[in-house]
Amino acid sequence: MVVSFPSVTGWILTIVLTLTSLKISEAEFWTRTPGDPFIVVDGVNNTIVNLVWEYSEPEDRIVSVGINRRKQGTTDETPIATRFGQGSRFTSSFTVNATLRSKYMALEPATLQLKNVKNGEEYVYTITVRYGAARGILVNWDDSVFVDVKVPPRIITLPARTTRNGIGSNLTLICEVAGDPTPNITWTREGATTNQLVNAIGSVLNLVKIQLNDAGSYRCTADNGYGVVSSLASVNIICSSHCKTTTVLLRLLQGIGWTDSLRTRGSLQFENLASNLTAAISSPYSRPENEGKRPYYINIKEFSLRSGIVQAIVDLQFSSGLIDPLQPLHVDIANGELGPFTVDTQLVVNPSTDETTTATSTSTGQPTNQVYADLTIMEDFLSEYRDLSNQVSKQLVDSFVSEMDKAYQNDDNYVRTEVTGLRTGSVIVSFTIYFKNAVIPSEGISNFEAAISDGTFGTYQVGHLTLLSPGTSTLTSTPPRSSQPTEFQCACDRTLLVIIGVLVSIIIVLILVIAWQHRKLGK
Ligand SMILES: *[C@@H]1O[C@H](CO)[C@@H](O)[C@H](O)[C@H]1NC(C)=O
Ligand SMILES: *[C@@H]1O[C@H](CO)[C@@H](O)[C@H](O)[C@H]1NC(C)=O
Ligand SMILES: *[C@@H]1O[C@H](CO)[C@@H](O)[C@H](O)[C@H]1NC(C)=O
Ligand SMILES: *[C@@H]1O[C@H](CO)[C@@H](O)[C@H](O)[C@H]1NC(C)=O
Ligand SMILES: *[C@@H]1O[C@H](CO)[C@@H](O)[C@H](O)[C@H]1NC(C)=O
Repeated sequence: MVVSFPSVTGWILTIVLTLTSLKISEAEFWTRTPGDPFIVVDGVNNTIVNLVWEYSEPEDRIVSVGINRRKQGTTDETPIATRFGQGSRFTSSFTVNATLRSKYMALEPATLQLKNVKNGEEYVYTITVRYGAARGILVNWDDSVFVDVKVPPRIITLPARTTRNGIGSNLTLICEVAGDPTPNITWTREGATTNQLVNAIGSVLNLVKIQLNDAGSYRCTADNGYGVVSSLASVNIICSSHCKTTTVLLRLLQGIGWTDSLRTRGSLQFENLASNLTAAISSPYSRPENEGKRPYYINIKEFSLRSGIVQAIVDLQFSSGLIDPLQPLHVDIANGELGPFTVDTQLVVNPSTDETTTATSTSTGQPTNQVYADLTIMEDFLSEYRDLSNQVSKQLVDSFVSEMDKAYQNDDNYVRTEVTGLRTGSVIVSFTIYFKNAVIPSEGISNFEAAISDGTFGTYQVGHLTLLSPGTSTLTSTPPRSSQPTEFQCACDRTLLVIIGVLVSIIIVLILVIAWQHRKLGK
């Protein structure tokens, strides 16, 4: 480090003079101090932090100003900035410790600017101002401030967004958070009144021996006084028998910034909005008067944009014996509000396909024993998949079928699932679910939809599900889609060959005609 001559002399002089200086009550000198402790919040007001001191003495009496820092509880001081005042022989502006210039700037007369203060950079800053009093006596004034950096809460481990649980099973939801000070975590149930609160404190919520009454959206909230964050978990119950699924269309009128990724199930945008909407829909059913009508599951199937309005297609599964299970929802939206959402007061029950844009599934349709569907799995398509009897295909098919058996384990009506083909486009699995008794396709598929509602199926990431509604009797007897892409390619090639053949024939005929014309002319 380069230290200039006047600076060295200045330091020596300062040290000598210090020995003779007096200390006087601070209140008479300081007209402004930063206030101790000085709180800075990461991400809120930590980028430029000014510690401002002001004093009553005129500048021409100030001999020096020095600002040091030390860790709290230690005495080891590091000089940050110093300057000589007009009352000294070495007037100059502040010099900031060269190794710390990226962190600090000093402004006259006595302001220290801290840049981008992070957690872990908590220091006690001490300013010492020296001034020449009457008869050459030097007086020292100092002031200390502790800069405390707080960090707002942040959720590190989100609880599972959606789960489906068998009656009597146990479920543990975990919500791990960080922050300084350590945040308090509370769990609440959306829509519940205070006397029904979950009352769990801490990062873990245990639901033991789950009953239908436990269905709903749970929220973990982390608060440390410097910010609040929360996350939702939707707890669904597997219906083992006598359930019926109702599809409703909700129009969200305000406050949803539409982005195209809302069309994609599994995108962060979709999942965030779906969590909020699921919680809002579950709320009326958590009120004591509506508990008997609690849905087994709420599944947001799709968001779409129609005439500038965001539409949500939602499946709700209820006990089949319930009379008017949608009544609590109707009542809630009658004033145009559903939780934080502004909604159309009218709920469209069992919307027709032309009201849903992508028409991935219909709630109408003839009862059938076989439900056909395509599911996109986010995996690379391997060439072996073209042949279903191949060992590689078998592996995928077997694990798919065993996941299906699991998803339908409590459905007495379920017989089996058969994979009828694997096609490209990631991997599109065509499959047929067989039922003992005829089901409406949209109801037959509902257990499966619930199983993939978190965007996964077993170990697979899943994308689009397309319900291939049979509609006609021909489709009930034959699988709806050819599962041999090779055959399809052959057909393509044949068409191409025919076209080329025709073109070649035309050219040959033309050449012959021209040649014949030439011969005629030549004669
Ligand atoms: C930063 O924000 C916190 C919380 O709002 C407040 O207490 C503190 O005084 C602020 N600090 C500064 C330097 O503005
Ligand atoms: C500057 O700061 C460093 C710590 O980063 C310290 O070790 C050093 O002594 C300081 N230099 C001066 C001249 O005070
Ligand atoms: C659920 O938890 C309870 C209490 O901790 C325990 O007795 C029971 O065996 C658990 N049930 C299952 C299915 O794990
Ligand atoms: C956590 O909650 C307790 C009890 O309500 C309270 O005393 C404490 O200040 C809270 N802590 C934070 C960081 O908010
Ligand atoms: C979900 O709700 C929270 C408030 O509870 C809000 O901060 C967030 O922006 C909402 N997200 C979406 C995608 O609606």
